[in-house]
Amino acid sequence: MQTIRGFRDILPEHISLWQKVEKEAKDLFEAFGFKEIRIPIIEKTHLFARSIGEVTDIVEKEMYTFADRKGDKLTLRPEATASIVRSYIQHKMYAADPVRKFFMIGPMFRRERPQKGRYRQFYQIDAEVFGIESAYIDSQMIFLLNELFKRLGLTGLSAHINSLGCPDCRPDFQKALLDFLESKKDRLCENCLRRMDKNPLRIIDCKATDCQEALQDAPATLDYLCNECEDHFATVKTTLEHQGVDFIVDKSLVRGLDYYTRTAWEIQTTALGAQSAVAGGGRYDGLVKELGGPQTPGIGFAIGFDRLVEVMEQIDKTPQIPGLDLFIVSLGDAAMEKGYHWSCELNQAGIRTEIDFRAKSMKALMKRANKFNAQYVLIAGENELTQNAIILRNMNTKEQVLLAVETLVPELIKILKK
Ligand code: HAM
Repeated sequence: MQTIRGFRDILPEHISLWQKVEKEAKDLFEAFGFKEIRIPIIEKTHLFARSIGEVTDIVEKEMYTFADRKGDKLTLRPEATASIVRSYIQHKMYAADPVRKFFMIGPMFRRERPQKGRYRQFYQIDAEVFGIESAYIDSQMIFLLNELFKRLGLTGLSAHINSLGCPDCRPDFQKALLDFLESKKDRLCENCLRRMDKNPLRIIDCKATDCQEALQDAPATLDYLCNECEDHFATVKTTLEHQGVDFIVDKSLVRGLDYYTRTAWEIQTTALGAQSAVAGGGRYDGLVKELGGPQTPGIGFAIGFDRLVEVMEQIDKTPQIPGLDLFIVSLGDAAMEKGYHWSCELNQAGIRTEIDFRAKSMKALMKRANKFNAQYVLIAGENELTQNAIILRNMNTKEQVLLAVETLVPELIKILKK
């Protein structure tokens, strides 16, 4: 039996980096006022089609969609934003306080062609903010991402930012884009031609080389911004500059999802070949209303957790196996029984203790203690029990002390908790 293509196990020897990232992210989110939210893995297909956009790669080609027994069309979530917006509306969160900040960490599903940094089940660390129109929240989201990456020791990342405008300035841009596309029609792929009427903005992120070449001088949203969007973007940029956050204004960044308005960004790396985006996000001021809620601005980002860990693994190549505080070498039935109770009590007290129940030789057990990188080894055989002198050996200094059975556990806790 094997995992399905694009799906994978994350094995214990790789998990320490995942846990480190999760801890740093949670600490930061907490400090910035985000609350954790947990959302279902499956939603009605309609939710994703409506929010991400019918004419996008995700919705057209990549979703795991199936009919349940009653024939309802359901989809494994390809991202978290749509669900969090749905939840915000469903629970009328806007009524008590429209300003809400959420984060979630969990798996997403997209049926893309698997390659390094690209999986069919992948994990995202997602953050969303509702109810704030000010450009300061845009800068703060990028600042937060930057701070997280800094804390994780990542270098060589670059923040690409752009503004995609709003419903006021979009039509002028779309017209210019359509005129431009019309002039390049003979060089565009089938898919792009099909999208011309339905969703021309998506043509800009077509990956086909010919299309990319043809689109080099395509009009950019940035050149068509209305005054409000321009001021908004200017505040985002100056605020980031004042905070010392490096960024590149990237006119060609359009993101792959339809809900974005105004600021959009990606954090890119050169470490993972073609899969350059470690995180992406942006503002979506129309989405809450589009999905049936009151007009409420929104903004958020998602970090590609798998990609982030892969970049970190390139920096720190040594797999980290946490060592053991104590290994109990129990020889003989009586010592095994005692050892069993000691190990449970020590585990209860938070001391990382292992014992091998398989009645092995002293030599084999010492070998195992070394394999686990145990700081201390407790040696209990028949002799030690009759003499009431259990040996505790410090594996670093090789010093040994003798402990009495009656007070063994509290003594060990005292020594090992130092
Ligand atoms: P996205 O750009 O589609 O945005 O995905 C965010 C990140 O998820 C990407 O930058 C990438 O690191 C990671 N990612 C995407 N697809 C894969 C894959 N197949 N394998 C591995 N990693 C992947 C969103 O999902 C938006 N919901 C972000 C957002 C939140 N915008 C506003 N709020």
